[in-house]
Amino acid sequence: MTISLNAPAYVRHEGLKKWVAEIAAQAKPANIVWCDGTDEEYDRLCAEMVQTGMLTRLNPEKRPNSYLARSSPDDVARVEDRTFICSHDKAAAGPTNNWIAPAEMRVKLDELFEGAMAGRTMYVIPFSMGPLGSPIAQIGIELSDSPYVVVNMKLMTRMGRKVFDVLGETGDFVPCVHSVGAPLAAGQADMDWPCNPTKYIVHFPETREIWSYGSGYGGNALLGKKCFALRIASNMGRSESSMTSPGWLAEHMLILGVEAPWGKKYHVAAAFPSACGKTNFAMLIPPAGMAEQGWKITTIGDDIAWIKPDAKGNLRAINPEAGYFGVAPGTNKSSNFNCMTTLSQDTIFTNVALTDEGDVWWEGMTKVPPAHAIDWQGRDWTPELAKEKGIKAAHPNSRFTVAATQNPVLDPEWDNPEGVVIDAFIFGGRRSTTVPLVTEARDWAEGVYMAATMGSETTAAAAGQLGVVRRDPFAMLPFCGYNMAEYFSHWLELGEHLQSSGAKLPKIFCVNWFRTDEEGKFVWPGFSENTRVLKWMLSRIEGQAEGQEHVFGITPKYEDLDWLGMDFSIEKFTTITSIDSAAWRKEFELHTELFERLAVGLPPELLKIKANFESRLG
Ligand code: OXD
Ligand code: MN
Repeated sequence: MTISLNAPAYVRHEGLKKWVAEIAAQAKPANIVWCDGTDEEYDRLCAEMVQTGMLTRLNPEKRPNSYLARSSPDDVARVEDRTFICSHDKAAAGPTNNWIAPAEMRVKLDELFEGAMAGRTMYVIPFSMGPLGSPIAQIGIELSDSPYVVVNMKLMTRMGRKVFDVLGETGDFVPCVHSVGAPLAAGQADMDWPCNPTKYIVHFPETREIWSYGSGYGGNALLGKKCFALRIASNMGRSESSMTSPGWLAEHMLILGVEAPWGKKYHVAAAFPSACGKTNFAMLIPPAGMAEQGWKITTIGDDIAWIKPDAKGNLRAINPEAGYFGVAPGTNKSSNFNCMTTLSQDTIFTNVALTDEGDVWWEGMTKVPPAHAIDWQGRDWTPELAKEKGIKAAHPNSRFTVAATQNPVLDPEWDNPEGVVIDAFIFGGRRSTTVPLVTEARDWAEGVYMAATMGSETTAAAAGQLGVVRRDPFAMLPFCGYNMAEYFSHWLELGEHLQSSGAKLPKIFCVNWFRTDEEGKFVWPGFSENTRVLKWMLSRIEGQAEGQEHVFGITPKYEDLDWLGMDFSIEKFTTITSIDSAAWRKEFELHTELFERLAVGLPPELLKIKANFESRLG
């Protein structure tokens, strides 16, 4: 039986229609729906999912127009060990990515996708990563058998009919195919959260294709995000570099705007590993005294930045996304007031707890937990159960999906197709020891070295063991779609190219908010207080702040930070800024391990910088 393509008349791209027909012939959905991105479509799909039990409507008085989804307990995070970069050449994927030869992978995908969507609707989801028509934006089309994916894509991207206008008859798009891998026989009841124990998240960098099978979870299924905006886009940015063009960058970075009291606005892009507070940093509220002085922070993006040099050599960034898919636990009115306001309505929550009032709750949302709730697995939960058995109400990687336009501190330029000029890059790991609160790199190459050797203690955003230090270069380890060593070269070469054409490069800083004391408690309060660190960075850019040079760069002395309204002793400051030579010698051994692992294609400049640091350390 052939399935009707149902393409609306406004879709004029024959190549696209042919591809949709081919996938439909293979995956055999019951029907095809072309998404238009309207609110009516969103409401209809949510209502359908409420009917099938996939979504629960929250109490509209507490949380208007919001929903809760509960995933299958084995589909709660990105699956890095099931994520593949299938370049022709194994070396092109590099040693940090899983690789399978494209021909072999295609045979596997053919097998998996044969009839994969039976009994389900296949949605055609047109989306733009970045403002529609921006010179930095790119178009993708996702075919998915999950209505949950459609509604999340509507919140996370510029999704809908307008994309077809930009695409026209022959425009380029990244084809993204997604199935939850749970075909339905006639009359067979659906699962609460359809997925498959077998999971494949596959990227073909040369043909710029994405195939995802078996998971309905955000990072594996919303293919515009990690798969396209990082893994495929990092390939695009590098492949567009040549003798005459430095190419561009796709980075795991938030972008924020900072208004300084001296009447200047800055833009900062910051990379942190997953679940290390990027959303909090992107929505920061300066401490009271500093806010009174005129410090103001606005959000452009909270997770991904695409950065391209303009004609003058300035690095301009856009946020390719249009919403936030953030980690819920730990978010509360004092850690992120703006985020809590953002989530007050029109939000999809996944794997948080449901209160008896029909609202949501997660660990850390309020000081006093509800006396009873339904946990993320649909079971009764009480604070006593949590104490006795350590049962969490919300999954540690439970999420909210919400449109950026709900953010009360959204930067007026967030949708500017030209992007904003970046003044500083920040790289931060989660390290309980060794790495100081903040270090300014002496130059671009030393900054690249520091970002390349970043380490971080693992979090719940990816399946696997928690709290183990792993090297996470540029916070891109799970997201760089090609050989990481060549990615370092791309950064170094981009810097050289811009410098040789006379452009002023952004300064590079490394931060660590997470150093602990002997009792394992965080010493630096973080959150709002991070504005003090930002102030120091911007003052350094203006040549207005002092610092102390050490082995790796420049760190503020106690008196170089603004302590207005904050009581933080010099002893504590020393705890989080001291450099322990013995610990750093060990750290360098780990850098050696990383460089040995990344030996093929590693820029020799990084080895020179390392030797220089080591000799400075003595
Ligand atoms: C994310 C992640 O979801 O980094 O942003 O895991
Ligand atoms: Mn992320």
